[in-house]
Amino acid sequence: MGSTPGLGVQRGRPLAGAFTPPGDKSITHRALVFGLLADGVTRVHGANRGEDCARSATCGEALGAQGKRTPGGWELHGTAGTLRAPHADLKCGNSGTTMRLLAGVVAAFPAAGASRSFTARLTGDASLSHRPMRRIAEPLERMGARVEGRGERCTPPLTVTGGALRGIDYDAPMASAQVATCVLLAGLAASGETSVTLPGPARDHTERLLPLFGVAVERSELNGGGRTVRVSGGATLRAADVRIPGDLSSAAFLFAAAAAEPGSRVTAHDVNLNPTRTAFLDVLREMGAHVTVERAREESGEPVGDVTVEGPERLAAFDVPADWVPRMLDEVPAWVVVASAATGTSRLSGAAELRVKESDRLSALARGLGVLGVTCAERPDGLAVTGGVPRGHGRIETQLDHRIAMAFAAIGCRTREPVWLDDVSHVATSFPGYFDTLASLGAGVVSVPRGRGGP
Ligand code: S3P
Repeated sequence: MGSTPGLGVQRGRPLAGAFTPPGDKSITHRALVFGLLADGVTRVHGANRGEDCARSATCGEALGAQGKRTPGGWELHGTAGTLRAPHADLKCGNSGTTMRLLAGVVAAFPAAGASRSFTARLTGDASLSHRPMRRIAEPLERMGARVEGRGERCTPPLTVTGGALRGIDYDAPMASAQVATCVLLAGLAASGETSVTLPGPARDHTERLLPLFGVAVERSELNGGGRTVRVSGGATLRAADVRIPGDLSSAAFLFAAAAAEPGSRVTAHDVNLNPTRTAFLDVLREMGAHVTVERAREESGEPVGDVTVEGPERLAAFDVPADWVPRMLDEVPAWVVVASAATGTSRLSGAAELRVKESDRLSALARGLGVLGVTCAERPDGLAVTGGVPRGHGRIETQLDHRIAMAFAAIGCRTREPVWLDDVSHVATSFPGYFDTLASLGAGVVSVPRGRGGP
């Protein structure tokens, strides 16, 4: 279905079959960025092939790595810690992870003793250009870099002037894995030790992957789900072979569509089951869906398994405990798919961070549900969704956000008329084959009638 800008999705048959989700986006970004710093050739097997991770690879090339796409993913000849000053802007596209991780990398160059100055400008698309970067600018400046963006929120483009950094102990105000990884990456090239304390749970792929690149990481858990992570400066990364598991955040949309339709049954192979990411599977179980895991194993420091989700006769509404939300941060759009199919009202709170993702997701989801006639109350930090029968024919504004497009396509799997999506091109940032996978499992995927651009 390629780069069709708009599409419609409607009920076909109950979803049935198996698929392999794209490689995990968060882990692929980290493997590429660590590979950029490493000495030798890093091989990233099963890498996510979407546009976001490709941005991390091409920005890595602009900083001196030599990259090559392989049938399985990427091969990256690293810089052994000697970055080249980029000749042009580092174009991060839609990818917040690329921008935040690479800001931490370039902030630490040139290292002590180098004579040339090193300034990098990181740019993004219309969505990324509105996202807050103060959260990384603040710790990087404390370490000794200069980071300039636009206005109070320090939005991109970002200009980072790096130099010899000093390690800090950073108490992050939000439990953000991107912020933690940015500071730790800067810390690897800083003097002394750097620690980051996160106030709550956040994905821990960085801590799991750095040891594969030969870097020691100290970690201590705090009450309430937070943790402190510590690295030593002057680290040398050695190249690694990394096997990327499937992305649960991508599979979640197909799991949600299956859970929402009685008689559906889908299996996703090789899915990452990192406990910092799996709360959505717990929510599905609480609502009455059948979720089973087979072939549970570990690969490249991450738990992996095959996951099957079956749609029950009836899904029950469920209020998601606020402390589960950090473990299903990217799955809230998928939660809307099941909440809108459940009997009763499901509530979710503690999700204000969703307002600063690729779009303001709480508002985009509430508006889209309104278009489909589903009752949804938008709260400052959450949503309350009352299940019902969504009507198709509505035209959803996807707001340059892949997960908004995928969520409403998944809702379309049970509407009689198509749910029209105004623009699905951003789905390729994380899940290039999404609509083909939906169609192969039984959904009705239809093109926008010629000359109409959807209803
Ligand atoms: C990510 C962390 C999360 C998540 C994003 C990817 C990562 O963001 O929403 O899609 O790879 O570290 P925050 O760090 O802002 O919570």
